[in-house]
Amino acid sequence: MACDILVTGCRGQLGRDLVASFSADHSVRGVDLEEFDIRDRARTLEAIRKADPGTVLHAAAYTDVDGCEGNRELAMAVNADGAENMALACRKVGARMVYYSTDYVFDGKAGGAYTEDDQTDPQTVYGQSKLAGEQAVQNVLDDYVILRIAWLYGRHGRNFVKTMIKLGFQQLRNRQQGRKVTPLKVVDDQFGNPCWTMDIARQTRAVLSGQLTGLFHATSDGETSWYGFTQAIFEALDIDVVVKSCTSDESPRPAPRPKRSTLSNQRLNEAGLNIMPDWRSSLESFLREHSKEIIREL
Ligand SMILES: NC(=O)c1ccc[n+]([C@@H]2O[C@H](COP(=O)([O-])OP(=O)(O)OC[C@H]3O[C@@H](n4cnc5c(N)ncnc54)[C@H](OP(=O)(O)O)[C@@H]3O)[C@@H](O)[C@H]2O)c1
Repeated sequence: MACDILVTGCRGQLGRDLVASFSADHSVRGVDLEEFDIRDRARTLEAIRKADPGTVLHAAAYTDVDGCEGNRELAMAVNADGAENMALACRKVGARMVYYSTDYVFDGKAGGAYTEDDQTDPQTVYGQSKLAGEQAVQNVLDDYVILRIAWLYGRHGRNFVKTMIKLGFQQLRNRQQGRKVTPLKVVDDQFGNPCWTMDIARQTRAVLSGQLTGLFHATSDGETSWYGFTQAIFEALDIDVVVKSCTSDESPRPAPRPKRSTLSNQRLNEAGLNIMPDWRSSLESFLREHSKEIIREL
């Protein structure tokens, strides 16, 4: 039976909130690796033909940025070929496609916020594979939406906010038990826009209702560093965790992160459809709504 919306990656952190948000007033089907692998073109075409959706929200991806670095073939197969397969399937059934891309398509050296017109130059395999996915979607479809989002967190799956809450409470426990307290070290020289998955879901709804087509930046307003983000988490929870700032050089990762991948939602602003809130107020709303359950699950 046909559905309004099909969400890929429905067991991931964004996919779950997309399903939750759109289910309120649409018929929604969620699919993930268990249903079919987006690398398999024939299976993808067949699954989309059967589901016959009006819109596909394509949130499935290989998102382990460091993992991608040592696994280019898999990254390109899932993030580029998988996106192309989905675009071909959408073309076949006449569905609109929303592809979620990333701030990591930029090298992060500009010093200011990137607009949609700025030159891309991804420095990581993950960023390269996601950019190749954007290009595949643009090559195959006329009616597409690409949303570049960043620094995602949400209620489900693994993310930075949940990891920091876990580490923060570990430190508090150690202190209560009289054990040595090791400060959390967090990098203070990489800047971006933290985004709550529910805000991305709401922004997706606004873009679809507004009948927009094309490439858009869709991140929270304002930028911070990972260190600033961490401090904001503990301030909002009102807990006294010792956090020390460090540089990227002191905390090396297999995939080099952009220094400043802050995005400006220029095109959404021009269209009068930018509903992304300020990152800090959004984080506070998220923690008000979900911190109790997250802490209970530690
Ligand atoms: N996380 C971020 O900070 C961030 C930032 C910018 C953009 N984005 C983009 O936003 C989207 C959603 O990200 P997310 O953090 O919600 O990702 P996520 O939690 O990792 O979810 C991705 C989902 O896709 C599934 N998947 C992986 N390979 C697949 C395949 N070959 N076929 C079918 N499904 C497959 C994964 O299944 P398994 O878990 O079983 O592998 C997972 O359920 C992605 O396109 C990502 O690139 C994310």
